[in-house]
Amino acid sequence: MMETRAVVLANVPLTEDIYKLKLQTPEIAAGVQAGQFIHLQVPGFSLRRPFTVADAEGEAITLIIRRQGRGTKALEQVNKGDTLQILGPLGNGFRPMPGPALLLGGGIGAAALTLLARRLGRCTFVMGGRSAGELWLDHLDLPPAVDIQYATDDGSKGFAGNLVLYAEENLQQGMWVAACGPEPMLAGLQSLLLQRDIPGQFALEARMACGLGACMGCTCMTTKGNALVCKDGPVFAAGEVVFP
Ligand SMILES: Cc1cc2nc3c(=O)[nH]c(=O)nc-3n(C[C@H](O)[C@H](O)[C@H](O)COP(=O)(O)OP(=O)(O)OC[C@H]3O[C@@H](n4cnc5c(N)ncnc54)[C@H](O)[C@@H]3O)c2cc1C
Ligand code: FES
Repeated sequence: MMETRAVVLANVPLTEDIYKLKLQTPEIAAGVQAGQFIHLQVPGFSLRRPFTVADAEGEAITLIIRRQGRGTKALEQVNKGDTLQILGPLGNGFRPMPGPALLLGGGIGAAALTLLARRLGRCTFVMGGRSAGELWLDHLDLPPAVDIQYATDDGSKGFAGNLVLYAEENLQQGMWVAACGPEPMLAGLQSLLLQRDIPGQFALEARMACGLGACMGCTCMTTKGNALVCKDGPVFAAGEVVFP
């Protein structure tokens, strides 16, 4: 983990509220594991914002960011050549398991799985959203062996239904699952994985202040007791997470 200055290489919109930020930061690009995140100082804000490293290639990392509040709105305005202060890589990463991998990303949660898809090479990667206009995986340059699929609540693209329904119909014994998305999605998926005795890993989100395990602001409940999303996670074994 290091604190460094990253140079903005590109900042491009992917959908109405999602943009892709490419940053030059050789040390982080070389050392990051799929699922790890950086803590980024948005100019003008004191608290850093956490973002998963969605891709790493050569000297650059890519972040996929959803405009959420004031910080991500300000970040949308940065330009090529600007510099940003970042801390990372932080947290743990996904641990690839034996057997075919099924990656399930709900909305912006898919950003936590894209580097895993690239590193696995061969896997099925399903992104879920409310409708076709929210989906952006096709804009990324993932390896051809990654089978990209979609699930939409309104049936406007791919499977008609949410990712838990998708998993109910498509999960097979021998597979393992990596997922990130809204809590109800992960809770539903957890029940299904436990019922079918299929292993999985979830990347969690929490509000973070320090990102380093010092403030205790990102506590989550697990079967082993309280854990810190920034330090013990963000990736946890699927069966270990206790949803409220
Ligand atoms: C490990 C991790 C990885 C993440 N990866 C991504 C990603 O790849 N792409 C992406 O778009 N978003 C990601 N997020 C969520 C992202 O950090 C928040 O959307 C962002 O911090 C919101 O900042 P804001 O100033 O726009 O919103 P505001 O609501 O104005 O933020 C106010 C404060 O709340 C915190 N906050 C608000 N929402 C969240 C949230 N969901 N999670 C954590 N902190 C929050 C902010 O850090 C800030 O301190 C990730 C969060 C975590 C914990
Ligand atoms: S953000 Fe401070 S302990 Fe996790």
